[in-house]
Amino acid sequence: PAVRPLAGRRILVTSGPTHEPIDPVRYIANRSSGRQGTAIAAALVALGAEVTFVTGPAEVPPPPGVQAIRVETAAQMLAAVRGALPVEAAVFAAAVADWHVTGAGDRKIKKGAEAPSLALAQNPDILADVAGLAEGRPRLVVGFAAETDDVLAHARAKLTRKKADWIVANDVSPASGVMGGTENTVTLVTAQGDEGWPRLSKEAVAERLAARIAEALTEGPA
Ligand code: C5P
Repeated sequence: PAVRPLAGRRILVTSGPTHEPIDPVRYIANRSSGRQGTAIAAALVALGAEVTFVTGPAEVPPPPGVQAIRVETAAQMLAAVRGALPVEAAVFAAAVADWHVTGAGDRKIKKGAEAPSLALAQNPDILADVAGLAEGRPRLVVGFAAETDDVLAHARAKLTRKKADWIVANDVSPASGVMGGTENTVTLVTAQGDEGWPRLSKEAVAERLAARIAEALTEGPA
């Protein structure tokens, strides 16, 4: 096998959280360091891929060798992702906020006698959007399912509902220490079945996933 099996192949990776503004100084976010997505992008670069890395405000910087596009909100992430197409494979490792605050304006909400209530609206599902493209769909669409319970059942449901080819399922219950941590225990869920991987560093998970992506893209026509 080639040392750089992904040479010349365009791959998209999303990473990090999104921040959804409440007003100019406050936002809703979620716990995502961006470590797993960053490690995946780095592993793909190491195999020769041309990686577009669309990242929310992560704790870690983008890896060397990617084309990094920094965004804040889910809506911005979707626009950046669409702009990065076409690609041969897309890995959606971002922890996208499920909702945004409607009517967030450019004036700071003042503290008053009563607490404000926030109206939330659904964010676009970026993975489902790209996986559902009738034209220009990447050959391989990989999503993540971070769950605290019934991890595999949720991952299988997500594979079908979002039309992904693979789902990397991981247990993010507080006891697992995955969120913000350096290790991950994942199961690769595909239409062909489930494959449990041992507890590995996020870098090792990324290397294994990148190797599988290289196999999938170089194994004949899709
Ligand atoms: O539905 P859930 O958020 O658990 O799905 C997780 C997968 O979907 C991840 O791959 C994540 O990057 C992707 N996703 C997305 N856009 C959203 C929500 C999730 O791309 N709005």
